Amino acid sequence: MKLAVIRERRDAEKRVAASPETVKKLIGMGFDVQVEADAGMGASIPDDAFTAVGATIKPDLKATINDADVIFSVQGIEAEDAVLAKKGALQLAVLNPFVEKDRIKAYADAGMMAVAMEFVPRITRAQSMDVLSSQSNLAGYKAVLDAASEFGRAFPMMMTAAGTVAPAKVMIMGVGVAGLQAIATAQRLGAVVSATDVRPSTKEQVESLGGKFVMVEDEETQEAETSGGYAKEMSDAYKAKQAALIAQTIAKQDIVITTALIPGRPAPKLISEDMLKTMKHGSVIIDLAVEMGGNCALSKPGEIVEAHGVKIVGHRNVPSRLATDTSALYARNLMHYIAPLVTDGALAIDFEDEIIAQSLVTKDGAIVNARLTEGS
Ligand code: NAI
Repeated sequence: MKLAVIRERRDAEKRVAASPETVKKLIGMGFDVQVEADAGMGASIPDDAFTAVGATIKPDLKATINDADVIFSVQGIEAEDAVLAKKGALQLAVLNPFVEKDRIKAYADAGMMAVAMEFVPRITRAQSMDVLSSQSNLAGYKAVLDAASEFGRAFPMMMTAAGTVAPAKVMIMGVGVAGLQAIATAQRLGAVVSATDVRPSTKEQVESLGGKFVMVEDEETQEAETSGGYAKEMSDAYKAKQAALIAQTIAKQDIVITTALIPGRPAPKLISEDMLKTMKHGSVIIDLAVEMGGNCALSKPGEIVEAHGVKIVGHRNVPSRLATDTSALYARNLMHYIAPLVTDGALAIDFEDEIIAQSLVTKDGAIVNARLTEGS
């Protein structure tokens, strides 16, 4: 069984899908691990750290994947490279399947079995494979540090001989995995933290972290959460009430970190240009949803926009900004996915298994995932 770890090629992607720790364990499971040259450089893992645990280094993508039974990647191989893979090869990566439909088709045409790691169901058994959680957690932390470095003032209250520095007021919009970590991080830095969400169950979580919870609560919010724990898109009437509350609250904030997402839909617009105008000069917005269309009307992917005295930060791929840690966690997520598929040194995949059935997107020349074929 050959397992390939590729060098990522997309812009600003520094992560790698394996670490020396996981390579050692994969070899223990019976894999021959081959790593593309310089695959780990962005995450500060030199090639010799991989060879030291038994991996082989391959010079280019073709040599890395052409005889591999399994391919590990962060963002997946490109559509035009699918022909380089062996027929039936199993690729694990984050594939963005709703948007990158042509690439999924190319995988199917090449006969690959492609797994979209973001489709792994959030059931207890799959927690250790949950790439959305492992990456969002660190993104939430980094968002606060990015805000602190763009902000011209301090976070904690400081009492000095020359007078007192007031603590920063930080608001988090969207209290999922990233939002919870952002609350905890801003608290640790000494800010006064408040947060909002459409799911009422988040109130207790915010308060248990010491934050103040702000929310429009009505009949609709009782049904704002899907059975999977995600948010639904809210009605126009709710959006109007929420906008009024945000407008009042936002004017008093120094930092706003937005993380609100709705699976399979564009990110909800929570901060309009008019709301921005009410914010204090020197305030900072970090829009973690920027790549899904953004929670702030003026944010732009990959840019720091200055408007009405407010900095709106739209870094792309925030997990990659902490590539060493996010790679280590992502690498473990993939290892936990593949481990149950290996029996006596060979791949034995149970296609009926809930985790496989929900995350496999291509097989035997076809797109096989219901979320893609039925468009849900
Ligand atoms: P996400 O990344 O899909 O969304 C981020 C947050 O934005 C969510 O809290 C969502 O409710 C909120 N949001 C959406 N629309 C909004 C709006 N209009 N205004 C304000 N907030 C809005 O969420 P994430 O981080 O993926 O978490 C989703 C759920 O999955 C949570 O319930 C979380 O606890 C649960 N979860 C379960 C796991 C498991 O059981 N293995 C692992 C990780 C998360």
